[in-house]
Amino acid sequence: MALVPPYIESLRPYEAGRSIEEVQREFGLRQVAKLASNENPLGPSPLALKAISHVLAKINIYPNGGLDLRRVLAREFDLKVENVITGNGSEGIMSNIIRTFLCDEDEVLTTDAAFIGFQVLAKSRGVRYRTVPYRDWHYDLEALAREVNERTKIIYLANPNNPTGTIFTKHEFDEFYRHVPERVLIILDEAYFEYAQDNPRYPDSMHYRYDNVITLRTFSKIYGLAGVRIGYGFAHEELIANLLKVKLPFEPSTLAQAAGIAALADKEFQHRSLELNARGIKFLSASLREMGFVVVPSEANFIMIPLASEEQAARMTRDLMAQGVIVRPLKNWGLPGCIRISTGTDDDNRRAIAAVQKLTVVTQS
Ligand SMILES: Cc1ncc(COP(=O)(O)O)c(C=O)c1O
Repeated sequence: MALVPPYIESLRPYEAGRSIEEVQREFGLRQVAKLASNENPLGPSPLALKAISHVLAKINIYPNGGLDLRRVLAREFDLKVENVITGNGSEGIMSNIIRTFLCDEDEVLTTDAAFIGFQVLAKSRGVRYRTVPYRDWHYDLEALAREVNERTKIIYLANPNNPTGTIFTKHEFDEFYRHVPERVLIILDEAYFEYAQDNPRYPDSMHYRYDNVITLRTFSKIYGLAGVRIGYGFAHEELIANLLKVKLPFEPSTLAQAAGIAALADKEFQHRSLELNARGIKFLSASLREMGFVVVPSEANFIMIPLASEEQAARMTRDLMAQGVIVRPLKNWGLPGCIRISTGTDDDNRRAIAAVQKLTVVTQS
């Protein structure tokens, strides 16, 4: 269609995972474990639920653009409010970054098979999008540094990375950073920061603030708020001031802001979520390795399994779904032979392993 630019025409829309209800209907199942979207299997933070119910009666009033939450985050992380932004999920902020800073001739640089939300947003801007391959399922920061040219404007790094679950260290980042000119903006996506922060090898980017780095975090994972859309970011005040010009004036919503403020204070829920996840990662990784699968070591709330072929990944996804376990095939991300499994409740995780055990028997016979 002549109206549609070629870079939009060639995009594939983001495909959300199948819902529990759809899979229940299609396969006639009562119990379904959705382990496809890295959500919190404990549900939302109870304090966030309470806060949402308190502000429900005020939703006739426009929200204040995230100012209340920005103030709370500034206090929590010992920053000025001018260094903090909030948005409709961290993807909402990513979208604003792309609109604010990219010009037509600029280039975006990242890894192959980067987080698909970022891929879609960057490609929809119509600028050149370049990638380098993973090295052993980790970002190849040396190769990325070599690829920086005079047109590079944004470098996107997720730490921990989705879909591999791997991290890079502060030393690796510092080495990389030495090669990045100040005119390049680095997006450090820390959507899974809370799961990795106790690992001494994991660098919390709050401890290495640079003027051309913007850190993004989210309430969608450990806080259990993926459905209300609330995320936040930290950066130099000039970057934030320009993002504030571009963002939708009333983003985030009243409900999302109230939920975020309450969830941030819900330390008990965060603690329970972390414990459950740590058990899940250990159990899923060990059980799958025992069955002979390769499991990429994960610092997040999911694991990635490289399989022998695209056909095998598609078959495993289909056969697990038929048994009531929804996992994420990574073909659309650019990894056709891989699947990703999020941690669930202890019951979900046991159901997933039991389902894989049945598969292996079928596959081997
Ligand atoms: C690396 C990464 N960044 C960002 C997001 C999106 O977060 P939000 O729900 O805050 O938009 C996700 C969600 O899966 C993710 O994996």
